[in-house]
Amino acid sequence: MPPVVSATITPARRIVGRLSVPGDKSISHRYAILAALAEGRSELSNYAPGADCRSTLACVGRLGADVRDTSAGSVTVLGRGLGRLRSADGPLDAGNSGTTIRLLSGVLAGHPFTSTLVGDESLSRRPMRRVMAPLAEMGASIEAVDGHAPLTIRGGRLHAIDFRPTTPSAQVKSAVLLAGLHADGTTRVVEPSATRDHTERALAEFGGRAVVDGLAVSVDGGQRLHAQALAIPGDFSSAAFWLVAAAMLPGSHVTIDDVGLNPTRVALLDVLRRFGAAVSAATTSTSAGEPRGTIIVEARDARAIEILPGEVPALIDELPAIAALAAGGTEVVVRGAAELRVKESDRIATLARGFRALGFEADEAADGFAIRGAARPSGGVADAHGDHRMAMAFAVAALAAERPSRIDGADAVAISYPGFFDILPRLVQ
Ligand code: S3P
Repeated sequence: MPPVVSATITPARRIVGRLSVPGDKSISHRYAILAALAEGRSELSNYAPGADCRSTLACVGRLGADVRDTSAGSVTVLGRGLGRLRSADGPLDAGNSGTTIRLLSGVLAGHPFTSTLVGDESLSRRPMRRVMAPLAEMGASIEAVDGHAPLTIRGGRLHAIDFRPTTPSAQVKSAVLLAGLHADGTTRVVEPSATRDHTERALAEFGGRAVVDGLAVSVDGGQRLHAQALAIPGDFSSAAFWLVAAAMLPGSHVTIDDVGLNPTRVALLDVLRRFGAAVSAATTSTSAGEPRGTIIVEARDARAIEILPGEVPALIDELPAIAALAAGGTEVVVRGAAELRVKESDRIATLARGFRALGFEADEAADGFAIRGAARPSGGVADAHGDHRMAMAFAVAALAAERPSRIDGADAVAISYPGFFDILPRLVQ
């Protein structure tokens, strides 16, 4: 076991500042994969710096794409063309990243060789049948260990399917669409409710086409993709922690520039308005089909928040941050979010335990949680259980505590936001 790195959080009166956040993780994964499948060298600027997106780059590199870092924080990827990746000389390591393993499963299902995808302990506990089933239906053979990684994928000629997943998941949708690019015919995914649509938008940027009709999205097999120079906006899901801190600590105001404002990602802004914060979000430009702009949040009121099941898919990565709103002395109730149990950790259990340790009342349900903050929670020692979003949620909640808190496993922020604990003291007053 690697040593656990802790962070100490000193209580704050308020947070104030203007900043930008690292490049979007979901978009970075997709650009790296599509660039590897495109013809020519793509340049991806503001590529997400976290370990997850590095895992994707390492995997596409092992599959024959030439990946280079430029001095300006961009990466370039020389693609091999659709269906022309070459077999890696050993297992491909997705690390902690669900997006890497699931999206690459779709790509590798369409390649005529055998690949093995592995991950860390957390990723090896996460459910993979949700991608294995549709990819097998398309003609790939996938072996797993009781539905978990390592995955051994024997890819080859695929045929199009019409797929209706029962759980909303952008990773599953994207895996099937990426396989569909390699299949004969038109592959269609009809989602039970909308999920982030970065794959659809990215495909168009690389010269491909996804046809969207309400909750249905289709791709034709055999499209040719072309290299692009693309700029990645800041990650809304990283910004979320600062937005929540600013909404929850009286007297706070935070401005975040150049952050992605894709409508499938920003549902948190309405939750913050319901909580009582003053929120403004203005799109300043759209690049590569992704709107970006500036968000300003100021603390005003602190009202109880209830997240209903229908809201969950659009808030899935923001629910840990939303839990921290309870630190404003109010209650946060989330229902219909059983998916949280199969994320980087069992986020329902980890949140309930961690918030209790910080002096909150927390109840766990099979599909959600209720967290109540005291006027001033005591503070304490919370364990992130290796989960980046848990570490950031506990850190934000601990700002409102009476005494300093310790977050164990704070180094997990390296997955999506390596600089998080360096920026925090600069915003605190
Ligand atoms: C992601 C989709 C979501 C999200 C994850 C990133 C993506 O997962 O939680 O952090 O980039 O497609 P699911 O598809 O499992 O809901």
